[in-house]
Amino acid sequence: MKVHMQARPLTVSASPKGLSGRTLVPGDKSISHRSLMLASLAHGRTKVYGLLEGEDVLRTADAMRALGATITRDGAVWTIDGRGVGELTEPADVLDMGNSGTAARLLSGILSSHRMNSVMTGDASLRSRPMRRVMDPLSKNGSEFLSREGGRLPMAVRGNGQATPLEYRLPVASAQVKSAVLLAGLNAVGRTVVEEPVATRDHTENMLRHFGVDVDVSVLDAGGRRIELTGPVKLTARDVTVPGDPSSSAFPLVAALLVPGSDLLIENVGLNPLRTGLFTTLLEMGADLTIENERVEGGEPVGDLRARHSKLKGVDVPPERAPSMIDEYPVLAVACAFAEGSSRLRGLEELRVKESDRLAATVSLLNVNGAETEVVGDDLIVRGFQNPLGGGSVTTHMDHRLAMSGIVFGLAAQKPVHIDDTAFIETSFPGFVDLMNGLGADIRA
Ligand code: S3P
Repeated sequence: MKVHMQARPLTVSASPKGLSGRTLVPGDKSISHRSLMLASLAHGRTKVYGLLEGEDVLRTADAMRALGATITRDGAVWTIDGRGVGELTEPADVLDMGNSGTAARLLSGILSSHRMNSVMTGDASLRSRPMRRVMDPLSKNGSEFLSREGGRLPMAVRGNGQATPLEYRLPVASAQVKSAVLLAGLNAVGRTVVEEPVATRDHTENMLRHFGVDVDVSVLDAGGRRIELTGPVKLTARDVTVPGDPSSSAFPLVAALLVPGSDLLIENVGLNPLRTGLFTTLLEMGADLTIENERVEGGEPVGDLRARHSKLKGVDVPPERAPSMIDEYPVLAVACAFAEGSSRLRGLEELRVKESDRLAATVSLLNVNGAETEVVGDDLIVRGFQNPLGGGSVTTHMDHRLAMSGIVFGLAAQKPVHIDDTAFIETSFPGFVDLMNGLGADIRA
């Protein structure tokens, strides 16, 4: 299922009234990708409830089908008949992962430890993103990778059905790289060990356990983690319930904090502590934000978020918090532009290699709308003021989160904000504009 991404420009004016009512956000993207991959590697039938039906995840579904899994959808329920670890089959065509770095990186791990040859590509954004971070560790297991110059897609993989288990210490805080190495280890004989200097989202570890795999996790001195598993492993099919995506909730949430008169309840949001850095930061900024009805569902903590319009103040975000809110910096920077005083967001080097160079693109989003910024090393400084101008034209560079952040800016600015292309919002948040309009915004094409 491929959607041709035709540019969809939009102009957003200040919301005529506060954002209010209750809403759900789409399923968690990280958990959705992993559910399709692990269910395809499991023995038996898995049903997935609440899967994110965004373009990124649909590419993962297509890829797993091309590798031999049977994946069907009936209403909102997805059913996967898995093939078992080591039993995926060679794809007949190039695997096109669209805009999704998570799909490409995680799948690389699976491909590297299956006896098959495959070729992977993606859209112009994904083809510009670094793949060496997975090629380098994975090729030590006896598989071979051949990519374009600079470790860019398209990339060919000669997988190794008798892969050597890897011991790897992550040079960057990346859950994608950690997951690629762990997934390769599922079909390697012996102990796979990954060390991360800073803890990153642990959905792969949690879901492997859910499918019956022994995963040992120990905490390292400096707050990092050591994750181990012994292959080859057998995964047993088990149904998965996907919570709402905290990264997607960030957009209506910040919009509600910024638009006067708002009182919004976002229900069933994933609250894995390795994903909630934004909520901590917004509370430090003085946000009127509460978490209600906290519970555990499908092995992940979830709750309802209540946000009311707030007078925000500047904040200093430490670099070690970055992995727990890495996708939320563009919309946090928008919040900082509306806050009283300066904010400093530290340690943002990984933002440069997301769907776009998100550091540069966020700076540009703020500057064209009259907000003052400065980049010092890897830190972003935003000088906030209470009533930012807007009136700018935002260039989104095929990046869904830039498009949604631009819309949030426009909902609270003095003058309308133009967004060059909102089509990529479909990758992670289908129906975003309609949802925002349903809450009180008036966004028109
Ligand atoms: C993800 C990890 C993060 C994040 C991405 C999803 C994942 O990337 O930015 O949107 O599902 O593992 P990195 O691991 O490269 O930081």
